[in-house]
Amino acid sequence: MPALVLLGAQWGDEGKGKATDLLGGSVDYVVRYQGGNNAGHTVVVGDQKYALHLLPSGILSPGCTPVIGNGVVVDPAVLLSELSGLNERGVDTSKLLLSGNAHLITPYNITVDKVTERFLGKRKIGTTGRGIGPTYADKINRVGIRVQDLYDESILTQKVEAALDVKNQLLTKLYNRRAIEAGQVVEELLGYAEQIKGYVADTTLVLNKALDDDKVVLFEGGQGTLLDIDHGTYPFVTSSNPTAGGACTGAGVGPTKINRVIGILKAYTTRVGAGPFPTELFDEDGEALRRIGGERGVTTGRDRRCGWFDAVIARYATRVNGLTDFFLTKLDVLTGWEQIPVCVAYEIDGKRVEELPYSQTDFHHAKPVYETLPGWSEDITKAKSFSDLPKNAQAYVKALEEMSGAPISAIGVGPGRDETIEINSFLS
Ligand code: IMP
Repeated sequence: MPALVLLGAQWGDEGKGKATDLLGGSVDYVVRYQGGNNAGHTVVVGDQKYALHLLPSGILSPGCTPVIGNGVVVDPAVLLSELSGLNERGVDTSKLLLSGNAHLITPYNITVDKVTERFLGKRKIGTTGRGIGPTYADKINRVGIRVQDLYDESILTQKVEAALDVKNQLLTKLYNRRAIEAGQVVEELLGYAEQIKGYVADTTLVLNKALDDDKVVLFEGGQGTLLDIDHGTYPFVTSSNPTAGGACTGAGVGPTKINRVIGILKAYTTRVGAGPFPTELFDEDGEALRRIGGERGVTTGRDRRCGWFDAVIARYATRVNGLTDFFLTKLDVLTGWEQIPVCVAYEIDGKRVEELPYSQTDFHHAKPVYETLPGWSEDITKAKSFSDLPKNAQAYVKALEEMSGAPISAIGVGPGRDETIEINSFLS
């Protein structure tokens, strides 16, 4: 069972770090295929807590080769500071591989991200401000800077000048900002070149050879299905494809090589930034989920919006990703509620709708139709198998599984590495 994709089934922050870490010991390669340092994985190893934004979580497993694929956008300053932060804590990062085709987040992409959001005012997306969208925009506009450009000064200079030609017009004439000097940007980027050089590789070749040799390769999605540029709640989305197909384009591996697609699904729902969210709670239940679940962004430090579980979204994630399994996380956060509402369908303009509407207008008008399931009060953090869970917790999991359209193969019952119930192995 060599190639698995692990991705967020909701709006991100489902607890992917824990899942990748659970598999870490048996996985030979962990690959990021999209996004950049807008992602936030918290991984707990023993009594140590690591917050990773750009690096694949496999960097914490000694036997594993972490890979940053061509589909990722890389801020070189962040890459070097995450690496040195880990080195200072004794983590060996020398195995990291970085695709020469990955695009670089340049200082002007970050500036454009921030000024665009400010310019949008009330209509802003609520981006992480890390330059992600503008860097992908440059990629598609064919004025992007790639990792490999760092090793040809003349090409790099030409490309930075070309990119800034238009941007400086925008910055000075529309946004009232100072122009950015191409020479300074080139100098800064060249300053990273030698430090990064040892990691740069033809990652597509490496990964396909690894798959031919029956190695276990894990493709780790950032963000989540509903933040996908094509399949998410556009325009309130990120600028890449966290959905399963993104693993193929963002790593250069054909779809015939992927064996399993695992959706990480939180036992309730959260979202960061703007955009529709039918089950969002504005009462003390929402406040309690936020407090008990520690729902504050790893990357931005912003409070997450919280709400009940939404089965319509889970079914949609099963569909657009071809999910084979779910990893249900944070079940322990729901301990103590007498009754737990679960959204089973939407009501849109007086009609009951079972599937996520493709129309943005309809989705904005969707009201959740709830079914209420009985809760449990027993501590579940020590549960090691499904049968250790209280009957009502078992019934909650089974109900979610039935509504969501794929088997729940693992359940997170606490933040620690070992606080997980494995039902079906992901590697069998
Ligand atoms: P961007 O990815 O910085 O362009 O932000 C676009 C949208 O995606 C905003 O609503 C962000 O809050 C959201 N977003 C980006 N990364 C994450 C993540 O890792 N978890 C949750 N939301 C995210």
